[in-house]
Amino acid sequence: MDQDALKKQCAQAALAFVEDDMMVGVGTGSTVNHFIAALAPWKHRIAGAVSSSEASTRRLKDIGIAVRELNDTDGCEIYVDGADEVTEHLAMVKGGGGALTREKIVAQASRRFVCIADASKLVPVLGTFPLPVEVIPMARSLVARQLVKLGGRPVLREGFVTDNGNVILDVHGLTITDPAGLESELNQFPGVVTNGLFARRPADVLLLGDPAGMRRIDRKR
Ligand code: A5P
Repeated sequence: MDQDALKKQCAQAALAFVEDDMMVGVGTGSTVNHFIAALAPWKHRIAGAVSSSEASTRRLKDIGIAVRELNDTDGCEIYVDGADEVTEHLAMVKGGGGALTREKIVAQASRRFVCIADASKLVPVLGTFPLPVEVIPMARSLVARQLVKLGGRPVLREGFVTDNGNVILDVHGLTITDPAGLESELNQFPGVVTNGLFARRPADVLLLGDPAGMRRIDRKR
């Protein structure tokens, strides 16, 4: 099974969490694109979707799913999204697609977070995947210098502007042993909009596409 087939496997498994009349939060990325496609038969059964990016919004609308503004809802029953790295404690690095800020907002507004990922994303320690940090453009150099002081190597994502009009610094070389602590620390830097650590609000369930068969990991509380 190739990686794309594994993404499709876990994306389809996420449908088991969708129920009639639910407001469904929808993430961003190639794994979620499979979930959006699988959601098509549900379009008249769910209350609608809250999207985490312009890209996902377009895909949802293309298949006829009603996309709601988060402010017009009472949040979502579930949020389904991928990850760039995920630990067995269901802390994640996200933002490879640059949608981290809206993803974090919709995740926070959702009662259950279902992470869908192929098995290559499961890691013992976060940080091999460069950590995306969304930054207000005028603070780019200031934030980059602070990230260097933390031991990281920030690299500007060239030619990329987020849906919110900001830039992304991808931080290489971090070994993230305290994801929730680092998430909070980075949030304090003036100019940082969001960082790609999802540890303070981790996933609740991980559906892992694995060549040996789908695996499910529930977060221990
Ligand atoms: C988008 O900004 C990201 O957070 C994605 O959820 C993450 O990059 C996973 O993407 P893939 O499903 O394409 O691997």
